[in-house]
Parts: sequence; C-alpha cells; structure tokens
Amino acid sequence: MGTEESKVLQIRDLHVQIKTKNGVTTLVQDINFELKQGEILGLIGESGCGKTVTSMSILQLLNHKETIEGSIMLKGQELNGLAEKEMRKIRGKDIAFIMQNPMNAFTPVFTIGHQFIETIRSHKKWNKKQATELAIESMQKVNLPDPDKLLKYYPFQLSGGMLQRVMIAIAASLHPAVIIADEPTTALDVNNQKNVLRHLDEIRSQYGSAILLISHDLGVISEMADEVAVMQHGKIVEKAGVFQLFDSPKHEYTKKLLNTRPTLYSEESVINLI
Ligand SMILES: Nc1ncnc2c1ncn2[C@@H]1O[C@H](COP(=O)(O)OP(=O)(O)O)[C@@H](O)[C@H]1O
Ligand SMILES: [Mg+2]
Repeated sequence: MGTEESKVLQIRDLHVQIKTKNGVTTLVQDINFELKQGEILGLIGESGCGKTVTSMSILQLLNHKETIEGSIMLKGQELNGLAEKEMRKIRGKDIAFIMQNPMNAFTPVFTIGHQFIETIRSHKKWNKKQATELAIESMQKVNLPDPDKLLKYYPFQLSGGMLQRVMIAIAASLHPAVIIADEPTTALDVNNQKNVLRHLDEIRSQYGSAILLISHDLGVISEMADEVAVMQHGKIVEKAGVFQLFDSPKHEYTKKLLNTRPTLYSEESVINLI
C-alpha cells in the first residue's frame, strides 16, 4: 500500500464557515487527512472542536447555511459541491455512516426491514426477495438473532445496542469503501461497545473498508486506530501513527488530552470530551 490507488478518501484544506447574525464563524479550518484502504483513522478532540462538522462535510450533510471550501476526493471523485442527487448515490453505498444515536438514524414509522431493504434497493437494482436475503445475511454477520423476525420490528422495539448493530449491518451490506463512524459506541454499554468495535474491525478486514472513527474514548482509539488525528478549535493540531501519538505526543494539547485519561470519569476532569 501507500500508492495513490490505495488512498480512498483525501481531504485537502477543508474549511467550513457559517453565517450568523453576528457575522461569519469558522467551524473547521485547514483540515487535511487521507484514508487508505483498510485503514482506521481515529479522530479525537474535546466536545465542540469540529469532529461532527468534519464528518458531515464529507457526507455533504450540513444544512446549507454553511459554506464548504476545499477538496473531498473519494476514489478520485470530488464530492465538494456535488449535486444532492449524485451524493445520494454515494451515501450508504460508497460512504456509509454510523452515528452516535442509532434511534435518530431510523424513521420511527417504518419497520427495520422496510428501511434496510429500501436502502439496499436504492443502490442496487434488486427485487425485494434478493434485498431481503442480503439484509438477513448482513444481520447474521453481526450476530443479530432471528433476523427474519427483527425485520418486522419497528425501531422502538429494539434496544440501542441492537439498533446500532442493525445500522452496522446496513452500513456493511453494500461493502462501502469508507465508513464514517461518529461516536458509534458512546450510547452503548460496555458489552455492546465491544461488539460494535469487533464488527467494525471485521468489516474493515473483510471488505477493506477504510474507517474514520470519531471517538472521545481514548481507549477505543488506541485499540482500533492505525493513525490518529487530534482536533482542537476546528483544526487538526497533530497527526501520527497510533503508537507514536500515545507514546510520544508532540503537541501540548495532545499531551493534555492524554493526561486527562485517568481522570476522565472524575468530576475534576478538566476537559469535557463527550
Ligand atoms: N449548524 C451550526 N451552526 C452553528 N454552529 C455550529 C453548527 N454546527 C456545529 N456548530 C458549532 O461548531 C463547533 C463544532 O461542532 P461539532 O462538530 O458538533 O463538535 P464535536 O463533534 O467535535 O463535538 C461547535 O462549536 C458547534 O457549536
Ligand atoms: Mg460530535
């Protein structure tokens, strides 16, 4: 690896601004990173530093009040400024995303099966039977029990951990080149956290998907990531291989972040990470 072809996503000089009644505010600036096939890039930084804005810009899912400058290249295709119709073909298929709160990712009035199957069918010219088979197979891969039955359920009938696994099954079903996982385990208990991380890792090794893993949990990042980017006030202040970053952090902010680790769960924690 290391060739141009193995770079599936390249972010160059990403700059996001928003106009408010008090003037223009910069949300993120000078963001540069790339994802290679099968690589996990961890993105860390305290709450409000711009992690979600970065991921939503890549997906072109900001709400149109923002201006996005810079380049977002997916396998050689520029996504910045792409028409919504074209982006819809890419979202879910080439770039899948997994969010913090799985409840928000599903429409409450449709069954899991309807949403799963429609997602597949919006990207593949398959009939319902074929799509259902793929949905069931994908759910089995993330160890969801009784997929046939689950498909008939509505989102509120599933626990958060199960919904998150359904979301991962949907994300994995189309073998995306890139998965953006924004705090995928934050809303889950320890057991479900482990499952979700294991499945993400399996998808990466089975399909070669590259993963942008956003997490405030340094334990998750140190276990999963190959490379780590540290964000502060809308900028990436340090980027390094996972071992280098944890063993010898260079930037003062990274050192501070790593130092808060033992006190993360105490009330005295100086940095609010979630
Ligand atoms: N639509 C928006 N309008 C104004 N400010 C926003 C908007 N979205 C995010 N922000 C601001 O941008 C900054 C980065 O937010 P976000 O990316 O959600 O942080 P993180 O995910 O790292 O916690 C925050 O200061 C937040 O308040
Ligand atoms: Mg966020």
